[in-house]
Amino acid sequence: MSENMKLDRRTFLQYVGTGAAALAAASAGLGTLDGKANAATAADHMFGYKTNKVSGYFEPIQHNTADKLILPKGFKYDIIAAYGDVINKKGDTFGYNNDFTVFFPINGSNTRGLLWVNHEYTSELWVTGGKTNGKFSPEQIKKLLYNQGGSVIEVYQDEAGVWKMDTNSRYARRVTGLTPFALTGPAAGAPSVRGATTVQGTFANCSGGMTLWNTLLSCEENFEYTANDAGLEQTHYGWVIEVDPFDSKWQVRKHTALGRFNHENTAMGLTNDGRVVVYMGDDKKDAGVYKFISNGKYDPLLGRGNSKLLEDGKLYVANMKSGKWIELSIEAALAKINASNFKMPSNAGLSVEEFKELVKTQGDVVTYAHAVAMLLGGTPTDRPEDVEISPFDNTLFICHTNNDSHGNIHGHITRFFEKNGDLGSMEFDFEIFAAGGRQSGFSAPDNITFDSSGALWTVTDMSSGSMNKGVFTEFGNNGLYVIPSTGPAKGQALQFASAPKDAEMTGPWFTPDERTLFLAVQHPGENTEDAANPTSMWPHRPGDNQPRPAVVAISGFKF
Ligand code: FEO
Ligand code: CA
Ligand code: CA
Repeated sequence: MSENMKLDRRTFLQYVGTGAAALAAASAGLGTLDGKANAATAADHMFGYKTNKVSGYFEPIQHNTADKLILPKGFKYDIIAAYGDVINKKGDTFGYNNDFTVFFPINGSNTRGLLWVNHEYTSELWVTGGKTNGKFSPEQIKKLLYNQGGSVIEVYQDEAGVWKMDTNSRYARRVTGLTPFALTGPAAGAPSVRGATTVQGTFANCSGGMTLWNTLLSCEENFEYTANDAGLEQTHYGWVIEVDPFDSKWQVRKHTALGRFNHENTAMGLTNDGRVVVYMGDDKKDAGVYKFISNGKYDPLLGRGNSKLLEDGKLYVANMKSGKWIELSIEAALAKINASNFKMPSNAGLSVEEFKELVKTQGDVVTYAHAVAMLLGGTPTDRPEDVEISPFDNTLFICHTNNDSHGNIHGHITRFFEKNGDLGSMEFDFEIFAAGGRQSGFSAPDNITFDSSGALWTVTDMSSGSMNKGVFTEFGNNGLYVIPSTGPAKGQALQFASAPKDAEMTGPWFTPDERTLFLAVQHPGENTEDAANPTSMWPHRPGDNQPRPAVVAISGFKF
């Protein structure tokens, strides 16, 4: 990447390969980039893809270490909500460490809608206070659970172009570690969850996805710590939850058919014959890439009734050596474990004896999905985080953030090609689409979202402990990069934003017209040891005495 490379709209269109033809095709809902268009099958693009807007009009910034959210010339951000802000008339407050965002337009508006925001984890320094004799008090546990989960907030852009939160909203509410959830699917009521059909709360909500029926899925990632600290049953967490942001009466639920592991996000699409597919990453070292395929077919007329499809289907893990998706079934698991000369893979996390004790039914298979996946030949990969389906050609982009135990220090983005472009295929091929490192200018790719030019908006997650040290010095603070997925600049990263100190930026999500980009700034000042002397004070609110995770709306996109 050349320094100060200016990307104007024309250059950007050349990058994406097809210029005016792409715009014309995109406005008709037909991509011409790199193969067959299939706009209707990617849920994240249910609104946006049919526009002809191109979001690549900016002068890339340079790596930076300032305690600021830095954007290219001509762009600005508004803070919509920060930790502790009141979100509704009832007095509920915005949780800690905001992550995934998803915008639901109200009456098709690009300037007013509901924003769902995940809250991933808390902080002893800023939220709960420290433990006494290794334990939190009941009052601290309440804070621990309340400040995770998610927020539904109503947001709008005022006449002066400033994005704000509407605290008079009739929709704004919290979903937390204290909210009752229903379980659906094979593990509901099963011994593996101690017979539970309802469970307490959601937490460790990392990323997620939109469904084709206008609800959201949110993913429970590193649930172990909170479950342990709060004395809750581990197997009630590590699932994908579903919430209807417009309807607080609709029972929030956990879909066990999608498996239990350290879920990063979901990407929903359709098979060529109309079944629902959900791709998912398991964010830990040596973990698999999964897809769920419903048994039933999607019916657009059913709306939210399609949620039932997530209760009944098959779960697969990718074997990247054979290029095959392997079904996680109890029959296959039992056949394998009972075979003579059998040896348990070391990365399964269970011994043969534990496995035989724990895994007896399909409910157990989904509850111990990682162990079953590794047993059946799922490929252990380097922290598979965000997975997204290209709205242009049904290829999948998977961020493998890093894995220092394999020497994969800077991570890479893998692209899967399903056979015949069918998301229902049982075979695939793959390529390394982009690799982190000095040569590309980014390290540790995490969340991604497409724009309608086919560019991947990619945020990075170098840990706050490793940033700006050693081999990470080169990259400065975490950033947001735009990476074209086709054309001559394919795979080249252009930096769009630089995060405040110790922070990562998460959950990038465009409004349908791509004039606003929502972004969640997570854990600014995380390396702080003394609250009186924080390493970051972002967002630098006058009179405030602490850094705060906050969601921003970025505007300035021109077409
Ligand atoms: Fe919560 Fe995988 O990042
Ligand atoms: Ca993440
Ligand atoms: Ca991450």
